[in-house]
Amino acid sequence: MESDNSKTQNHQNHELVPHKGFKLISGTHDPDDVDQIYNLEIRDSDVFVVTYPKSGTIWMQQILLLLESKGDVSAISQVNNYSNGDLIPWIELNGNRQAFITAPSPRLRVTHLQYQFMPSALSHKGKVIYVARNPKDVLVSYFHFHKLANMLETPKDFNDFFEKFLKGDVFGCSWFDHIKTFHAHKDDMNMLFITYEEMVQDLQSAVERIALFLGKELTDEQLANVVKYSTFNNMRKIPQANYEQVPGDLLSHQQGKFMRKGTIGDWKNHFTVAQNEKFDEVFNKEMEDFPLSFLWDVSDIV
Ligand code: A3P
Repeated sequence: MESDNSKTQNHQNHELVPHKGFKLISGTHDPDDVDQIYNLEIRDSDVFVVTYPKSGTIWMQQILLLLESKGDVSAISQVNNYSNGDLIPWIELNGNRQAFITAPSPRLRVTHLQYQFMPSALSHKGKVIYVARNPKDVLVSYFHFHKLANMLETPKDFNDFFEKFLKGDVFGCSWFDHIKTFHAHKDDMNMLFITYEEMVQDLQSAVERIALFLGKELTDEQLANVVKYSTFNNMRKIPQANYEQVPGDLLSHQQGKFMRKGTIGDWKNHFTVAQNEKFDEVFNKEMEDFPLSFLWDVSDIV
């Protein structure tokens, strides 16, 4: 079994590298390659899922693949054509931009990149789905993920990570900037803006909205299967949705499961009163003019 020590040694090869107002992970992203994403030619059938880390990317990946397969869950276990084991490839990962150019349609891709790196041709072709999640739960989920992911530095403790997240000193940079910029540009692309909390609240309606946005026509039975196989409990049992095929030098599987809690409000089990006050202060200042509100606790679901 890999020790915490070996994780520490592993992550030393993966530093956060500032790049044009963002931070890339050395060894994982190539700055020149990332810059070329902006110039990619886009087809009408291309779909980009954009998220800040830990906002439900894997969930949207699962839903999109199930919509493609018309609810046939065996499509998920057949996904092994990407060496790093992603259900849908990350456009910013080394080598993936080149592969995108010649890939057959429909080209489904995910990204954590900020708006300025997105292909400019998305202004008139292709579709974008932005998944947003309340940032307190993002912070907690990201804290746990840092323990799992060897390409990210293991936090000293929760407070250390809390401070780094608020400063945007993590991969993805500032949660506030990420969501504000994409939301400000939502009419400049064909974009569906959806929240993790909406998906928790009513997965059936969320799947129907996504299917409608993508122009997917499924029977009621097929849609019911998409919903069934994208619930947290079902996804938790699927190895691919837990990145179980990803080698131990990238993910320390003994540190926990990727599909961890899948709920709204776990931050209440982690934040101190003082941390919560500090977070609210930053949030209220940063999000003052933001038109949408967030659901902070699963018990607030009406
Ligand atoms: P938690 O760590 O809070 O459990 P990403 O794919 O962007 O890294 O996001 C991962 C987060 O989404 C994890 O959050 C994971 O459990 C949650 N998630 C993934 N699929 C989900 C589902 N079907 N229902 C609820 N949460 C889900």
